[in-house]
Amino acid sequence: MQLLDGKACAQAYKSKIAQQVLAETSKGIRKPHLAAILVGNDGASETYIASKVKTCAELGFESTLLRFESKVTEAELLDAVNTFNSNASIDGILVQLPLPAHINNDTITLAIDPAKDVDGFHPENLGRMMLGLPSFIPATPKGIMMLLEHNGIRTSGMHAVVLGRSHIVGSPMSVLLARNAEPGNCTVTLCHSKTKNIEEILVQADLLVAALGKPEFVKAHMVKEGAVVVDVGITRVSDASNPKGYTLKGDVAFDEVSRKASWITPVPGGVGAMTIAALMQNTFEAWSRNTQI
Ligand code: GUN
Repeated sequence: MQLLDGKACAQAYKSKIAQQVLAETSKGIRKPHLAAILVGNDGASETYIASKVKTCAELGFESTLLRFESKVTEAELLDAVNTFNSNASIDGILVQLPLPAHINNDTITLAIDPAKDVDGFHPENLGRMMLGLPSFIPATPKGIMMLLEHNGIRTSGMHAVVLGRSHIVGSPMSVLLARNAEPGNCTVTLCHSKTKNIEEILVQADLLVAALGKPEFVKAHMVKEGAVVVDVGITRVSDASNPKGYTLKGDVAFDEVSRKASWITPVPGGVGAMTIAALMQNTFEAWSRNTQI
């Protein structure tokens, strides 16, 4: 088994971005600028946003974080998005999900200027991705493609099984893996809560991407010998013995599955690190276009 080390891979991508940014900013070009909106006090969202803001600083980006209480109205959020849209010094905008139930996610996503939609959730970017046109690609699936490529994992001809059909991970992942490209060129099966005989399908996977948010759902008997296993899950499970009061668990039972897998991502230190690297890459690309470097 070889570890698909997201932390090391993310570091390689981030160093390259930081070098390129430094080369341009030292000539007087303005810094890349990511603007984020966080609503409420969800612990996991707080952690993700803090990590994004910290990474911006590490790479020489500017960042703006706008926080709202969970009782914020849709109109207030739309105002904030529009202010960011019309600010020419902002390259990328993200609204951290999930949003409170009274806010319509789609209304907010549609309001973001597609040219600044570094999460790649706007229909214009998702549509362009379907067509294989240049676009912002959602950060988690993009990060997974970067991780496979960086480690020289050739996926052509593989049967890829994606567990979970979310708009953020599973659906775009299935599109990217089926593309006529390397990594890509997979035969893709997308499994979800209504899939019958899920274990029979999983055991056929040469490449398994687990993104269903059920801690340790994937057990050794569901995995083919030599499979490449990518674990997107990162659930906080109560743990009184941990000073934080929880332990992070992936969707894959790592100890037993790692004995069968050829490659496997750890949790943490796998996909999460790559998601941030991919978001930074998207923001870097937006800035390169805006500053015409
Ligand atoms: N919540 C979980 N993943 C993501 C992501 O990639 N982007 C945003 N904006 N929110 C998320």
